[in-house]
Amino acid sequence: MKVGIDSISLYTPNSYYGLRELAERHGVEPEKYLYGLGQEQMSVPAPDEDIVTMAANAAAEVVEDAGPDNVATVILATESGIDQSKSAGLFVHQLIGLPANCRVFELKQACYGATAGVQMACAMVRQRPQERVLVVASDIARYERGSQGECTQGAGAVAMLITADPRILEIHPEQGKHSADVMDFWRPNYRSTALVDGALSLDAYHDSLASAWADYRRDGGLSLGELPWLCFHQPFTKMARKAFNTLCELEPEAAASLSPASYEYSQHYGRRIGNCYTASLYIALQSLLETCEEDLAGQNVGFFSYGSGSVGEFFSGTIVAGYQDRLDPALTRAMLDGRQPLDETRYVNWFYGADHDVDAARHVLPVVTTGRYRLSGIIDHKRVYEDGAERLKQAV
Ligand code: CAA
Repeated sequence: MKVGIDSISLYTPNSYYGLRELAERHGVEPEKYLYGLGQEQMSVPAPDEDIVTMAANAAAEVVEDAGPDNVATVILATESGIDQSKSAGLFVHQLIGLPANCRVFELKQACYGATAGVQMACAMVRQRPQERVLVVASDIARYERGSQGECTQGAGAVAMLITADPRILEIHPEQGKHSADVMDFWRPNYRSTALVDGALSLDAYHDSLASAWADYRRDGGLSLGELPWLCFHQPFTKMARKAFNTLCELEPEAAASLSPASYEYSQHYGRRIGNCYTASLYIALQSLLETCEEDLAGQNVGFFSYGSGSVGEFFSGTIVAGYQDRLDPALTRAMLDGRQPLDETRYVNWFYGADHDVDAARHVLPVVTTGRYRLSGIIDHKRVYEDGAERLKQAV
């Protein structure tokens, strides 16, 4: 049975901060961020946006297209959780009108969480082929102000519907896995920004890729020469080039037939959005599918998912004929081009000032985002979301 991605939809907030401006503020040459790391902009969430609203905005597209019937499970992957107990997916489930006979839960393992969700969803569909599973990856990458990670911040969500006979990507059963206890990147419960050992995180990523690749091959996975397209977890787009070089060193003979074109299409969106942790790998996939002019039908894609801490997985898939009919590149382009640039004051206030963890009985948020779903406030410690203005009036 063929199982895989039947729909995919990306959402990113409607404001951004330029990396050139950030470099000036940090007193470094802009080329370091623009070319050294390969980042141009970072999407910045409005004060009334969070992982729930971004996830709902991404998932609404997918569910509107396919209809809510037979969505048997919602898996929300994030490392920017909004509650220690309740799954953020339950807010999304309600906002986008999914039926009650549906299981909803949240997954966490740094940037790897969505891949765990995709693999779990594939297994669920293999067991009950009539059912569909909605996997949503939603994250806000936030580091300490002035830290070396600040230039890799970003925000966004990707929603995917996993089904039998998928119309975008058939996911192969072969898997290569690698887990190791590494303190390369983490966020303790008492912090709103992540801590990172940058150099260790790069080494851990490469070690994980090498080990996951070897495991994928042992599991009967395709050779590098049979994978003309590659998507990597991209905390910054230069990382894809580094990962590609690692694979080429591991398989020098196959590498001769590969060129950087195999991963460059996957970088276009991430370069403008920034790191979105769990969503980054799937933003790379949507970027490849929507920006490559060639018809990719029938061609294989290799994926490397990396989540600090750390878990890595290499897997592959085949692009399905007619996949273009399931995508809307013009809509994605309009979303990216339509974003407003922020000045430094707004960037700092929005990225670091939005205090959603307030211990207040009543905290009402003005309308700022142009996204359909927004966080309208926190009332009696309960987060209140709305789909349009009417809802805020009713809730407050
Ligand atoms: N012109 C062009 N290039 C320049 C330049 C200039 N003027 N100045 C520097 N560069 C290049 C450097 O040569 C370097 O390129 P190479 O790596 O190819 O040599 C690149 O710019 C970056 O320079 P540095 O290594 O000096 O940068 P840094 O030490 O300040 O920080 C970082 C880099 C460690 C990635 C940091 O941004 C960071 O900590 N980021 C967050 C952690 C992260 O993303 N880690 C990635 C792996 S972990 C993961 O993937 C999970 C996750 O999502 C977090």
